[in-house]
Amino acid sequence: PCIMPSTLVIGSQWGDEGKGKIIDAFSEKADFVVRFHGGNNAGHTVINDYGKFPMHLIPSGIFSSAKACITGGVVLDLAELLSEIGMLEKAGITLKNRLFISPRCHIIFPYHKLLDKIYENAKGKAKTGTTGRGIGPVYADKVSYNGIRLADILNPAVFSKKLQVQLTLKNQIITAFGEKPLQFQTLKKEFLGYVKKLRPYIREPYPLLSAAIKTNKQVLFEGAHGVFLDNDWGTYPYVTASTVLTGGINAGAGIAVNNQISVIGVVKAYTTRVGAGPFPTELQGSDGDQLREKGQEFGTTTGRPRRCGWFDAALIQFASGINGYTDIAVTKLDILDSFRKIKICTGYTYKGKRIHYYDTDSELLSKVKPIYKTLRGWLSPTRGITEFSKLPKLAQAYVHEIESLIGVRVSYISTGPKRHEFITRNP
Ligand code: GDP
Ligand code: IMO
Ligand code: MG
Repeated sequence: PCIMPSTLVIGSQWGDEGKGKIIDAFSEKADFVVRFHGGNNAGHTVINDYGKFPMHLIPSGIFSSAKACITGGVVLDLAELLSEIGMLEKAGITLKNRLFISPRCHIIFPYHKLLDKIYENAKGKAKTGTTGRGIGPVYADKVSYNGIRLADILNPAVFSKKLQVQLTLKNQIITAFGEKPLQFQTLKKEFLGYVKKLRPYIREPYPLLSAAIKTNKQVLFEGAHGVFLDNDWGTYPYVTASTVLTGGINAGAGIAVNNQISVIGVVKAYTTRVGAGPFPTELQGSDGDQLREKGQEFGTTTGRPRRCGWFDAALIQFASGINGYTDIAVTKLDILDSFRKIKICTGYTYKGKRIHYYDTDSELLSKVKPIYKTLRGWLSPTRGITEFSKLPKLAQAYVHEIESLIGVRVSYISTGPKRHEFITRNP
């Protein structure tokens, strides 16, 4: 695909839109691929000539010749990172002089995972349904000046002091909730061991990336999660802890906001959500089951069944506006092949009156009524089609409908999980 020098790929729903697939397809020409927020709560599936890979921390574009950066906005589970490096090396992907990890990254410790569990249990039915990876607690420590960064672990004396303070605090809470206290020496040794192995990759990517952008190199930013999981603008508290929006590349990777960057909103041809929270177009019956089965909608990170529903244009309109989408990529169009009727939500009403997403909170959004437009399904296979003109006319009409409701061009369409199952529409 032909992309502007720098491109940011953002999930537009509640995650799992197919960002990994899109990044892999784009990465052929990229000089740098970059993760800028989130942690291993992300699960991005890549299927290409090397095999099938669930990517959690390392950018999904690593299968190209691009250099890969994990910038300071990312939170790291070091054991997971090492196992991902091992998985890639086993598949023949070399990372030497190609992977750069910022020492600014905050580190996930076992107490973050325990706190994640304790908070969820305490909320009972009102729990968020987190991935259990310690994401909320590690970001909470970051913003309350209690975090431990990769740079700290590089200095064992600094690390010891910080870890001791944190264990004093965290063990009190953990034991109060019936969990075993964590041992300082064991943890210290374990984490010093991880960092020793990661040492060759630890280098601040900022100067590389800022120089790359100045010299018009192709930098591909890989967003994780989805707009409606954003900590500020998502369906709080059923969200994740990081900034999912375009602004995340400024905070997380140090990229100035006045750079010309194309912003691609990835939208699944229908909607899914894992975990709790409002979902206006959710389907409870057989249509929902059919979407889940055909789309293999089970979490890449936790294996949980995903909740499924119709495409919600009201959400995507908002996502497009807040992020300034230049293009849209529609994924999993092929999953709708067997539906006789396909619905699109064009807006909501509450007590008979029109209401916008931004005027709701999660409580209210769970009560709105979607307004649907019903389209005829195309009832013929689209899997693997690579030219727009070869799509059935009714599938083309579905794409045109999305375009006109969002007001942004659908420049890319994914018609299968593999790299080449992809349509680029000519300008
Ligand atoms: P991500 O988190 O946004 O990268 O998405 P996930 O990888 O968690 O979930 C998307 C799932 O859909 C993965 O299993 C992909 O292999 C698959 N997928 C992506 N694009 C397509 C597509 O166009 N058609 C089909 N059938 N599957 C797709
Ligand atoms: P990718 O990048 C789908 C959801 C969780 C939960 C909420 C908070 O693969 O699209 P957390 O563990 O982040 O504290 O959980 O956010 N969630 C995701 N859902 N895809 C993701 O990532 C997600 N990352 C977080 O299910 O509801
Ligand atoms: Mg995913």
